[in-house]
Amino acid sequence: MLHTEDYFGIDFGTTNSSVVSVIKSGNTINIDKFGEEGERPFPSLLAIDKISGEVYFGEDARTRRRELSDSCEIISSVKSYIDTDKKWDIAGEVWTPEIVVAQIFKSINERIHRYYNRDIKDAMISVPIGFSSSKRKIIRKALDRAGIQIKGFINESTSAIFKNYEEVKHHSKLAVFDWGGGTLDISIVELNDGKVYERATNGIKLGGDDIDVLLAKWVHSKIAKAKNLNIAFEEMDKRDQDRMLAVCEQAKKTLTYEDIKNISLMKYGDLGSFNIPLDIDMFSELISPLVEKALDTLKDTVKMAEMNMKEITGLIMVGGSSNLRPLYERIEELWGEELDVILPQDPEWNIAEGAALLNMDSGEFRLNQDIGVLLSDNSFFPIIERHTTVPIFNAIEHQYGLVDDSNSAVFLFSDNKIDPLSKEKNVLDRISIEAKGFFNENIVTKSYIDEDLVFKSKIKSSHLSDEYEEYEYSNLKFYYTLPDMSGDIR
Ligand SMILES: Nc1ncnc2c1ncn2[C@@H]1O[C@H](COP(=O)(O)OP(=O)(O)OP(=O)(O)O)[C@@H](O)[C@H]1O
Ligand SMILES: [Mg+2]
Repeated sequence: MLHTEDYFGIDFGTTNSSVVSVIKSGNTINIDKFGEEGERPFPSLLAIDKISGEVYFGEDARTRRRELSDSCEIISSVKSYIDTDKKWDIAGEVWTPEIVVAQIFKSINERIHRYYNRDIKDAMISVPIGFSSSKRKIIRKALDRAGIQIKGFINESTSAIFKNYEEVKHHSKLAVFDWGGGTLDISIVELNDGKVYERATNGIKLGGDDIDVLLAKWVHSKIAKAKNLNIAFEEMDKRDQDRMLAVCEQAKKTLTYEDIKNISLMKYGDLGSFNIPLDIDMFSELISPLVEKALDTLKDTVKMAEMNMKEITGLIMVGGSSNLRPLYERIEELWGEELDVILPQDPEWNIAEGAALLNMDSGEFRLNQDIGVLLSDNSFFPIIERHTTVPIFNAIEHQYGLVDDSNSAVFLFSDNKIDPLSKEKNVLDRISIEAKGFFNENIVTKSYIDEDLVFKSKIKSSHLSDEYEEYEYSNLKFYYTLPDMSGDIR
């Protein structure tokens, strides 16, 4: 019998989560997408009965959301609450974000087992750009509770490249724009030599959820004004807010292919029923600041890669919010002919599929940047250099002499790049270390890149035995070998 192994990739999204597996057997590569009836990703949504504690998950919870909202606590967008103090007290149980994420993946694993008789035991998982060390740890623990070991992390936007490689390989410099429900993630990559080089990665907390809130507030203020009531959207009952957000999200999606949509609810708290038309022009105007912010972030990220927009010949657009017509039109207007805009066939699966491919055949991950410190003469001293294979478990130790007899030493961490705005060397962070100011005093750093691909440095004075100061940096840039895709893909 041929040896076959399931290589899973997971894209855990604010709104939707997708799971893809790759099995290589002999000369064929089987790619399977796991979702609700195989058609679409699992909504990252739980409804938990306030009395019995019964859990509803995914599409079931999504389609019955309105009906369930009376008897259940609805937990949506839990990804944006990871590593916050948010808790839900339901039916005598405390649900932390970690427990909610664990439940989502238990439910996903259960369904995959039930429908396909497969089990996710381990997986490569995609994360937003700059996802912090503690958030990565929480995701690890949550998936562990669901029986899934995380084999590695990959940036969401970079992951989309692997799946679309055939279509984009004639471009040497590309941008990936992944606009989801919670975050916008951008990777500027260079393709060369069968490798994918991250040149700049940048993410902001801005997504479809923000657009829904913006629309909800707009509709709300129109009704409140008409009814002459002075009440803010946030002051409405949670369920009414939830219903309002749901109809606004629906209208937003409808405006992708229609020019006008009525936003209506039969009952909206004390404000009664309403029916407000929203046309595409008004919609464009309303969301324009968010669209501009997203595009400014793209421009900034290109600058961070020390490139200009003209050099970028391809733009891959994934994520649900990339469907926004005003966004698409604005991109046409700005870069029109020069830019090859790639809208993949099944964008909701791209990122998980990229992660699965990388899981199957990742080669080594290597660092595509230096990381070190700026010395007092502004020269760069590298701690870990470009091309280093990661992770690095054995801490690398360095010692630095104190410049003068001060009682503190300031460490400027840098990637040795020039900041496009200040034209000075990039300072990633400044860490101040307590010192005695002795003549022979040294500052010691112990640095490594952990299994979560986060750079960590512990710093202290040789004359002070107290705790180390810890510095971490989670937006490292890497390069990846393209997975071997030779064979029949099914
Ligand atoms: N046709 C559409 N027009 C506008 N927005 C849409 C459309 N379809 C989906 N969306 C929005 O896209 C978002 C979901 O996108 P996606 O599934 O890519 O996000 P996610 O991966 O769950 O989130 P994130 O990557 O931010 O964690 C939601 O806010 C949804 O309302
Ligand atoms: Mg996403």
